[in-house]
Amino acid sequence: MDTNTKYLGLDLKSPIIVGSCGLTADVDKMVEMEKAGAGAVILKSVFEEQIIYDIKRNTHVVAPTDNYGDSYEYIAAHVADDSLSRHFQMIRDAKSRLSIPVIGSINCFSYENWLTYAIKFQEAGCDALELNMAILPYETSLSADDVDRTFSQIINTLRKSISIPISIKVGTYFTDMAKQMQQLSWMGIQGVTMFNKSVQVDIDIEKECLQNASYLSNPEEIYNTLRWVAILSKKMRCDISASTGVYSADDVVKMLLAGATSVQVVSTLYKNGIQTIAELNKGLQAWMEKKGYNSLSQFRGKLAVQPNDKASVAMRTQFMKYFAEIV
Ligand SMILES: Cc1cc2nc3c(=O)[nH]c(=O)nc-3n(C[C@H](O)[C@H](O)[C@H](O)COP(=O)(O)O)c2cc1C
Repeated sequence: MDTNTKYLGLDLKSPIIVGSCGLTADVDKMVEMEKAGAGAVILKSVFEEQIIYDIKRNTHVVAPTDNYGDSYEYIAAHVADDSLSRHFQMIRDAKSRLSIPVIGSINCFSYENWLTYAIKFQEAGCDALELNMAILPYETSLSADDVDRTFSQIINTLRKSISIPISIKVGTYFTDMAKQMQQLSWMGIQGVTMFNKSVQVDIDIEKECLQNASYLSNPEEIYNTLRWVAILSKKMRCDISASTGVYSADDVVKMLLAGATSVQVVSTLYKNGIQTIAELNKGLQAWMEKKGYNSLSQFRGKLAVQPNDKASVAMRTQFMKYFAEIV
């Protein structure tokens, strides 16, 4: 049974990828993931805040002060380089011990650092780069146009400056999801990861303070991703990697039928262990055998909304089946 696929132009033995998380900051664990049959790994993101935190911790200052004078810039740059270089050593180790593609991941807030970090990740040997751009439009001053501009500026700059494939990891907060995703796919990127799951905010009513809710997903969360993959996979000009709520081999099959090129798993590995990847691969192969499929291309996208079909009609038909039983 052939589960080979191409994702971002890279050859993968399996469409099952380990998404960016704490487990992909550890080379030994990534070796285990490869042995269990992962098609690729996406490294834990480097967050710009993390580098800034290292700078503050090492210089004990929040911003340039008289005490440091001109040397602040020098110290900050040195600490940032040192902090990043530990990450780049991890990339080099991963590249030397793994034969599957190693995809870097960055999340910045300043425009210049998207570019600086992307170039450094390419130099460190990543096979591709996932830009963790799940923008949460918190500010009342931020318009949908501002969000569009942020995406365009960063993608256009990076596209001109780096040669490795780029994918964009997005969240679900778009006023015009379908249009935005299609336009992003026209910008010369190789893939879109749909969707990031951002940390949920909860409230502790005893202490009366904000706290984080569980950061792991639940299997029911697959349906939102599945819906959008099915709607968009044939309308976009790049790969879709499906993320959030993928737990079982059946989930992998569903995402492929909806048109995903690859499927990312994270929470199930935390809850059920890295060996889950082997079970997912086995389940995918068993399903293909039962159905008489020899390769993924024979069924990928079979249940996607077709390029010229209206998604609203396809989705409304489902709605009518459920509520009115008229179809
Ligand atoms: C512990 C943990 C750490 C994560 N760290 C990152 C990260 O650094 N960068 C990123 O893009 N996503 C990160 N994520 C989000 C995952 O990549 C993924 O999008 C999300 O967990 C949904 O997939 P799942 O349902 O398979 O868990 C993290 C998730 C978890 C649970």
